[in-house]
Amino acid sequence: MEVIVRKDAEAAARLTARLIADAIRVKPDLVLGLATGRTMERVYEMLVEEHKYRGLDFTYVVTFNLDEYVGLAPSDPCSYSAYMHYHLFRHVNINPANAHVPRGNAADLEEECRRYEALIAAHGGIDLQLLGIGLTGHIGFNEPMSSLRSRTRLKALSPVTLQQNSEYFGGVDKVPRRAITVGVGNILESKRAIMLATGEEKADIVARALEGPVTAMVTASALQLHPRCVVILDEGAAANLTMRDYYDHIFHTEPEWAPYRSL
Ligand code: PGA
Repeated sequence: MEVIVRKDAEAAARLTARLIADAIRVKPDLVLGLATGRTMERVYEMLVEEHKYRGLDFTYVVTFNLDEYVGLAPSDPCSYSAYMHYHLFRHVNINPANAHVPRGNAADLEEECRRYEALIAAHGGIDLQLLGIGLTGHIGFNEPMSSLRSRTRLKALSPVTLQQNSEYFGGVDKVPRRAITVGVGNILESKRAIMLATGEEKADIVARALEGPVTAMVTASALQLHPRCVVILDEGAAANLTMRDYYDHIFHTEPEWAPYRSL
């Protein structure tokens, strides 16, 4: 794992968007794992700009979102399908048949989980997985006590997460109680992962995930087991880290990061 701290949320999003854009340029048929949430909105805005003004081509890109609320049709404005359409898909030249989100309104939800896993496998797995982190430490909707080997399945949302997402639904009572989410095991199988977290309210959970023990109580801590994971933070989200000088040293000396230092 490498940790990169940028001066603010804008610079953290810019680095994240640039890494994704560069991965697409290197491999035009990239299999890209996508995340939702407020933090990602600016990243998608920047990817749209890359498409519009710098020719980033999504023709052959395949995407798989991490999760979806149970009971919501893709047309529901609160669904993650609608989020992706609104923030990214409608603005770029992605083939809609290549943009996958679990179907939260499937008649047979268990079957939907199996179908989604099989589809990811049929595409050879995720090349690059984008991740946020929730206040409970979740990646995807892998709430505390998710097995670190978990697969795509139904998961109950924690009270903290229901509260965190309540503003989208106009009240905590209206938030669906369950979601389909890919598992921690799936996320660990991605060939490369980028986690982005910004803002002081994430400082505590980020420190627990990165510098604390690997534990099912904070599923983002499982990223310590990931073979190739970069965590991108702003100053706020990095505020409680103890090894900050070490992370900065790596970023400023490793040749791999040279093209990105000025972003
Ligand atoms: P947020 O969500 O970007 O809205 O904070 C992150 C998450 O819950 O994964």
